Amino acid sequence: MAVFRRKRKTVGLDIGSAFAKLVEVDHGGDTPELTRVAVTPVPPGAMTDGEVTGPGRLRALVQKLGETLPAGTAEVVTALGGHDVFIKILSMPSPSGAPKGEAVRREAEHHIPFDLREIRLDHHVLGTDPDDGSADVLLVAAKRERVEARVALLGGAGLGVSLIDVEALALHNMLLHNHPEAADGMATLVNVGHEVTSVNIVDDGVPVFAKGLPFGLGWILDRLRRARGLTRSEAEQALRHRQYGTELASVVDTVAGHVVTGVERASEVITTRSPQRGIGRVYMSGGGACIPGLADYVARRVKVETRLANPCRRVQIRPGVAAHWALDQAAPMLGLAIGLALRTT
Ligand SMILES: Nc1ncnc2c1ncn2[C@@H]1O[C@H](COP(=O)(O)OP(=O)(O)OP(=O)(O)O)[C@@H](O)[C@H]1O
Ligand SMILES: [Mg+2]
Repeated sequence: MAVFRRKRKTVGLDIGSAFAKLVEVDHGGDTPELTRVAVTPVPPGAMTDGEVTGPGRLRALVQKLGETLPAGTAEVVTALGGHDVFIKILSMPSPSGAPKGEAVRREAEHHIPFDLREIRLDHHVLGTDPDDGSADVLLVAAKRERVEARVALLGGAGLGVSLIDVEALALHNMLLHNHPEAADGMATLVNVGHEVTSVNIVDDGVPVFAKGLPFGLGWILDRLRRARGLTRSEAEQALRHRQYGTELASVVDTVAGHVVTGVERASEVITTRSPQRGIGRVYMSGGGACIPGLADYVARRVKVETRLANPCRRVQIRPGVAAHWALDQAAPMLGLAIGLALRTT
């Protein structure tokens, strides 16, 4: 009998502006296994830039997702993103090994654009250099009220929170678990969502750049709906099957162009910091990555190898889970939720 077995299952919950995704991963075997997937649309305006703007509607929706879990599953891992979350890597003096929390907090005051009394701060020591007595520290800060709002939302829906992650780091986790080669040199992950597209750069496995850009698939879908008088889901189907006509092809191209500009700007920042590094290979995730031809377009324009990140590449799928789901189609939008569920808390 396994007396000291670690907690077997982790539930990841990603509440996006278009879809909320709940996934459960079983960590009991040699390879993590996806045992549950539930996705539900989020009403427009209920979640904006990572902020809960329609708490009543969201609570009902999260409760419904929570009810798909077996009785007794009380806790989930969820993530915050958007403007009120801040990630930075600091190099700080630390003559006697890894810096302690208080020293990091004092150093953080110089780097964080928020009042320290209003934030929740966390850090992770990436490495120390005994020769020059310095340490590299990954600093993560989130507005306290945002953390509290999320805990309250989930609590109201009957769910506890075992961990609040940061979107960029959960995506990073998903990428490195499934594509370990991305930890070798530089790699860029572009997550195209409904309202936000995020660009994340990894240097030898360390997240060195994360930026959210204010556009996504919603922009294209709105135009498609207005031009054709379609419902949201009809517009999604039309986009998915490229049935949008030439007038909208140019809107799709515009968004693809914005994605390219975002990647190029990130590349400039990285190249300024470390010339010759480039952005490595580009991986794409998020529902928007499913637009046919987007990855090829980015590859052609940025001139680097570009591919879809597969959040289930090194995650087994329990038979039956895929039965309800065209997982190959839906997988890119599950990247963040799977990154959350890959945490063993
Ligand atoms: N297979 C697909 N083909 C084309 N579009 C898709 C596909 N799957 C999802 N989408 C669209 O991709 C968009 C982004 O989906 P995603 O779930 O990543 O957004 P979100 O996480 O809710 O948004 P955000 O992260 O910006 O808040 C949605 O508008 C959705 O309609
Ligand atoms: Mg999203």
